[in-house]
Amino acid sequence: MKYQLRKFIMSAAATLSALSLSAADGIEINHLGVNNTLLRITGEGRYLMLPVQESNDDARINVLVDGKIAETIYVRLAHTRTDFMVPFDLEQYKGKNVTFDIVQPHSRSSVREAKGEACWKNISLTDSVTWTDREPDYRPVFHHAPLYGWMNDPNGMFYKDGVWHLYYQWNPYGSKWQNMTWGHATSTDLINWKHEPVALRPDGLGSIFSGSSVIDHNNTAGFGEDAVVALYTSAGTSQMQSLAYSNDNGMSFTKLASNPILTLESEARDPNFFWNEQTGEWNLTLAHALEHEMLFFTSPDLKHWTLRSSFGKGEGAQDGVWECPDLFPLHVDGTDKVKWMLVCNINPGGPFGGSAVQYFIGDWDGKTFTADTDADGNIPTKWLDYGKDNYALVTWSDAPDNRRTAIGWMSNWEYAAEVPTSQFRSANTLPRDLSLFTAPDGLIYASSAPSPELLALRDRAVKTVKKAAVSPKGVTYSLPAENGGICEISGNFDAAGVDSLMITIFNKVGNRVVLTYDPAKRTFSFDRNRSGKECFSDSFATTTVSPTFETDGKISLRIFVDRSSIELFGNDGRFVMTNLVFPIEPYTNIEIKSFGGNASLSDFAIYSIKTN
Ligand code: FRU
Repeated sequence: MKYQLRKFIMSAAATLSALSLSAADGIEINHLGVNNTLLRITGEGRYLMLPVQESNDDARINVLVDGKIAETIYVRLAHTRTDFMVPFDLEQYKGKNVTFDIVQPHSRSSVREAKGEACWKNISLTDSVTWTDREPDYRPVFHHAPLYGWMNDPNGMFYKDGVWHLYYQWNPYGSKWQNMTWGHATSTDLINWKHEPVALRPDGLGSIFSGSSVIDHNNTAGFGEDAVVALYTSAGTSQMQSLAYSNDNGMSFTKLASNPILTLESEARDPNFFWNEQTGEWNLTLAHALEHEMLFFTSPDLKHWTLRSSFGKGEGAQDGVWECPDLFPLHVDGTDKVKWMLVCNINPGGPFGGSAVQYFIGDWDGKTFTADTDADGNIPTKWLDYGKDNYALVTWSDAPDNRRTAIGWMSNWEYAAEVPTSQFRSANTLPRDLSLFTAPDGLIYASSAPSPELLALRDRAVKTVKKAAVSPKGVTYSLPAENGGICEISGNFDAAGVDSLMITIFNKVGNRVVLTYDPAKRTFSFDRNRSGKECFSDSFATTTVSPTFETDGKISLRIFVDRSSIELFGNDGRFVMTNLVFPIEPYTNIEIKSFGGNASLSDFAIYSIKTN
């Protein structure tokens, strides 16, 4: 009897282990229960390919290296189908025992059910991953976008020795927000971007939220000559500010062992800092997100910070959290007069819903920001972009020739995770150079003109018109046939005296973007209600409207059409509209017509885009 019972227990155990153990090539999979699986790497291969199903919740994966938790990542592992695969790079743990301890967010009814999931069928080891042309319809041709995975804010940008460094909020393990890591890209021309190795990974203090970097020219922090110093938010249970430095021009960073360097009793993030020549110390702006204000600190050495003042409570748009600040001086109207621009990105609460770039113009004395007021003594609310898809815009530090070159995340928190791409989500805007101008209302505004480097994008002019009348009958031109119609359209328009000027960019399946200039109201609108795919979010189909800041019925336009975006720069960036579009087929034509009389156009051209 005793023997028989033992035999029964042994055979039950054998059944159980047969149930729980399965293997892909070089991967041993042990199901430990209804929601826990242990996965051991036994074979060769640089990447563990993890199957993702976007609609699932995240599984928590502790990566154990020689028995210790080296990192924790969150991945929407596939249950019923695999939408796409994401690579986990095993190179860094080469020669060590690597085990993935996976906890699924939901329980299955049995281990058998757990075992049957798509994840375990498709998981694999491989030596190389090819990303090219996975999503040709909507992957931008001349914008920076991550190779794969989710991207939000641009971070930590600095320029050094001819190279523009761009870091960004990146999820390497899926196309929705998670696992915030600083991805890295470099460019020598602000057009072509090289994907570089990851710069900063999550650690025990949390994931790596937004921040900025500078070159410490005077070695105030003692990290060495021309060290690049980055400040970022460590986002764990709470948010705190941390420091990392690089002695190899931003290719790799060392985190300060004594991080965090700055803590507060409430949520604050996205440190942005610069060396103030006048005061001889570092100035830091920090978004006091939920308080809808910015906090200002100073420091002699980047490690010790003193709170000096705050700005923003009750001012400007207050509907959303204040995030991603930037603060810098600019000349007004090209004169010697200098004003300071304080960028306060907010989400939600933008003029067309969701996220947007708000800014204030004023004075900065090294400790306090004083905003300019209008004739009634109020601080006006100003927006840098009158489209829906420019957020978290910040500028490069140390840009050449005293330039203030900026870039934003070309999406909106309202629908960024739903846009119809999957291998990657989101690109950055084209780079823009900022300056200040006095508008007809007497106030100072910021313009953001396409960075001069973008002229190099122009290839063949497929159409040029020196001067022509624009009538209510309208004229239609073809967009370049190559590369799905991507192009730059530029021209001057005189609409003085007409009711409106309408420019329609369209294709033969009825997708269209309608741009309307109303010279009497001095507004320009961008209607993407029927631009292509819109149904993925209720907030996408929309018309955005901008003031044109002119008084003579004349505008100049530069319009950049990439595969899933249109950026419109009016009057050298005095009004700007950045909007995503997802045409079902590429746009093929542009029609220009007027209402209520004849308008005219001059120096009009449609350029195809140089692709390397
Ligand atoms: C802005 C933001 C930042 C934060 C980051 C996290 O889009 O919310 O405030 O640092 O995204 O990814």
